[in-house]
Amino acid sequence: MQQSSPRSSSAPYGFVGAGAITAAIVEGLNVDAADPPAVFLSPRSRGVGHELVSRFPTVQACDSNQEVLENATSIVVAVRPQIARAVLEELSFRPEHVVMSVMAGVRLEQLQDWAAPAAHFVRAIPLPSAARAQSLTAVYPDNAVARELFGRVGGLLVPSEEAALDALSAATATFAAHLDYLTTIANWLAGQGLDHGAATAYTTQIFGQLGQSLMQSTDSLATLTEKHMTPGGINQQLMTDLRRDGVPDVVRRALDRVLARLRE
Ligand SMILES: NC(=O)c1ccc[n+]([C@@H]2O[C@H](COP(=O)([O-])OP(=O)(O)OC[C@H]3O[C@@H](n4cnc5c(N)ncnc54)[C@H](OP(=O)(O)O)[C@@H]3O)[C@@H](O)[C@H]2O)c1
Repeated sequence: MQQSSPRSSSAPYGFVGAGAITAAIVEGLNVDAADPPAVFLSPRSRGVGHELVSRFPTVQACDSNQEVLENATSIVVAVRPQIARAVLEELSFRPEHVVMSVMAGVRLEQLQDWAAPAAHFVRAIPLPSAARAQSLTAVYPDNAVARELFGRVGGLLVPSEEAALDALSAATATFAAHLDYLTTIANWLAGQGLDHGAATAYTTQIFGQLGQSLMQSTDSLATLTEKHMTPGGINQQLMTDLRRDGVPDVVRRALDRVLARLRE
């Protein structure tokens, strides 16, 4: 059923799957936007859907996934990869649909099988920072509709082949481990007698600032690393300890295993 068009002059987007990453993209589409696009959400995830509908006048929730497809030709598929096939095969796509999958490890070839006769397929890796319109989203292949959407919520990186997109996807699997590393530091500080809140606040602040330096610097990572340690000093000592204990190798092997899983 065609719904009445929400107030917007640009082409609408449909989202099949309205969980965390859809919420981030939809929020980013609306952050400081003079003319946000209309958005049609699938009916599951009522909590997320209700919140987005109540916050943004251009967002509507549909009664079915098929209704999302009736209301938009630019479709973001954001369900979990395990149910991708079942969700897509039950829908009737049209050739004009542009299917933009953000599902980790679902290959273009699979999407083409499951969402035929749609003729345009894109894989993308949006990040939670899309909510602040600051996601550098890897996209493959290049596509004007995907450029428009992901450009609005940050920017794009378009690798030259699908295999590189999988590698970029594997790299994004390091976020939780990175935060866990910071947790280890904060907990260690608390173990030294600091108040737990102060230990967390200190850790968050110093690594937040390090992140800012990364964003602003034009140096290579190797140069930045050099700049953060005095020869013979304590930063060099800790880095050398971790390298000697095999931490870089452990990280490389874990990344290899994630990549293998993505390519299964
Ligand atoms: N989170 C990220 O940072 C991120 C980044 C890049 C890519 N991704 C990819 O995005 C996808 C979604 O991740 P997520 O973190 O947003 O997961 P999520 O929060 O679990 O969202 C998935 C949503 O899909 C809904 N759903 C389940 N079955 C459905 C169906 N048959 N039809 C329509 N919707 C259905 C679920 O609704 P219910 O709550 O009702 O079950 C759930 O809210 C994954 O494939 C992931 O690989 C995530």
